[in-house]
Amino acid sequence: MDTTGLDHAMALDRADPLRGFRDRFARPDPDLVYLDGNSLGRPPLAALEAVERVATREWAGELIRGWDHWLDAPTRIGDQLAPLIGAETGEVAITDSTTVNLYRLASAALDARPDRRAIAISRSEFPTDRYVVEGLAAARGLALRWLDEDEVEGVSVEAVERAVDADVALVVLSHVNYRSAAIADLPGITDSARAAGAYVLWDLSHSGGAVPVDVAAHGVELAVGCTYKYLNGGPGAPAYLYVARDLQDRLRPPIQGWFAQAAQFEMGPRFEPRSGIGGWLVGTPGMLGLAAAESGIALSAEAGIERIRAKGMVLTGYAVALLDAWLAPLGCTLGSPRDPARRGNHVSVLHPDARRLTAELIGRGVIPDFRAPNSIRLGLSPLITSFVDVHRGLAALRDLLAG
Ligand SMILES: Cc1ncc(COP(=O)(O)O)c(C=O)c1O
Repeated sequence: MDTTGLDHAMALDRADPLRGFRDRFARPDPDLVYLDGNSLGRPPLAALEAVERVATREWAGELIRGWDHWLDAPTRIGDQLAPLIGAETGEVAITDSTTVNLYRLASAALDARPDRRAIAISRSEFPTDRYVVEGLAAARGLALRWLDEDEVEGVSVEAVERAVDADVALVVLSHVNYRSAAIADLPGITDSARAAGAYVLWDLSHSGGAVPVDVAAHGVELAVGCTYKYLNGGPGAPAYLYVARDLQDRLRPPIQGWFAQAAQFEMGPRFEPRSGIGGWLVGTPGMLGLAAAESGIALSAEAGIERIRAKGMVLTGYAVALLDAWLAPLGCTLGSPRDPARRGNHVSVLHPDARRLTAELIGRGVIPDFRAPNSIRLGLSPLITSFVDVHRGLAALRDLLAG
C-alpha cells in the first residue's frame, strides 16, 4: 500500500480519536500549515473567551474585589496541571517564567548541598538552562560537569552515572531534548543521581501536554516547564514549577516574596514562610496570562495525556516515514530518535541549507522552526496538527528541495 498519498493522510485523520479537538482552536488561516506547536501553541477558543471575560467582567467589573478569587489561581490551576505530570494536588504552581523557576529551584537545591562543588548539565541542554546553571556556578564558585551525550539519542543513564559523584550537588536535564526530541530515561537518571546524593531538576517544557511523566512514581523531586508550547497557554504564559511535597518546606526558596508569606495581608515585620507549594510563590500573578493558560491546560486534561501521547507517536512516525520516502533521497537526514518510544513530539529534519529552506517554507505557508546550524524542527501538536498538515508540510519541503 502506498502510504505517501494524500488519501492515506486523510484516512489517518478520519480514524484519529482526537480529531474533534482541532476545531476548538482558533485557526483564522485555514490553509496555513502550522508545524511549530512546540514553540507556541495555537490559541484555544476557550482561552480567547477567558481573556475577554477576565478583562471585561472581572478586571473592569470587580476591580480590587477580584483578588478574593484570583489570589489562589497559581495553585488552583497548578492542581489542574498536576495529573498531566503525575503530581499530586498541592505540588504544582503556575507562576513566573520557566527560566525564573529554574533559577529558584536550582538555587534552593544548591543551598541544601553546601558541601558539594559541582553541577552537571549537558551541552545540548536548552540555552536558558545552561545560562542559568553557568551563572549559578560562577556566583558560587562551583564547577560544571558536562554530561556525555549522543547528538540524536541524548543523555544516557550511564553518562549520568559517570559524571555524578559525591561532589555533584545538582543535575539539570530536559526530559525531552529541545533539538532532537530524545526522551531521557527519567526514572533511571533520577534513581542514579539520587543514589549519588544529588538533586535532579527536570525541565519538562517539551513534555507537558505531549509526553506523560510520572513524577510521583519515579521519585522526581524538582521540575519546571512551559505552558505555552503543547499546553497552548499563550505567548509568555506563566510556567509551572513542581516541588515534591516532602521538600516543599525543607528547601528554602531564594526569593522571599510577599506571596510566600504565611499571613500575607497582615503585612508583618518579618518574613514567615507559608507552608506547602504556596511558599514557592513570589509576587502578584498576571491574571490575564493565567486565564489563558488555564484554558489550554484544561483542554489537554480533557483529552487525556495517554491519548495525546498515542496520537503523538503515530503523528511523528508518519512524518519520519515521509522523510524516509521523500526527503532522504534529496539529502535530508533524521535528527531525532527513530524509535517512537524514545522520541517526543517533534521531528528534527537535518539539512545543510536548513535556514534557507525554513524561510522558503514560511513563504509558502508552512511554518516549522529552524534551530542552528542545520535543523528544521517540525513540532506536531497532537490536539491540533492533522496528518494532512504533516503531508502538506513535508510535500512542500520535498518540492522545494527537488526544485
Ligand atoms: C526546554 C526549554 N526550557 C526553557 C525554555 C524557556 O523558558 P522561558 O522563556 O519561559 O523562561 C524553553 C523555551 O523554548 C525550552 O524549550
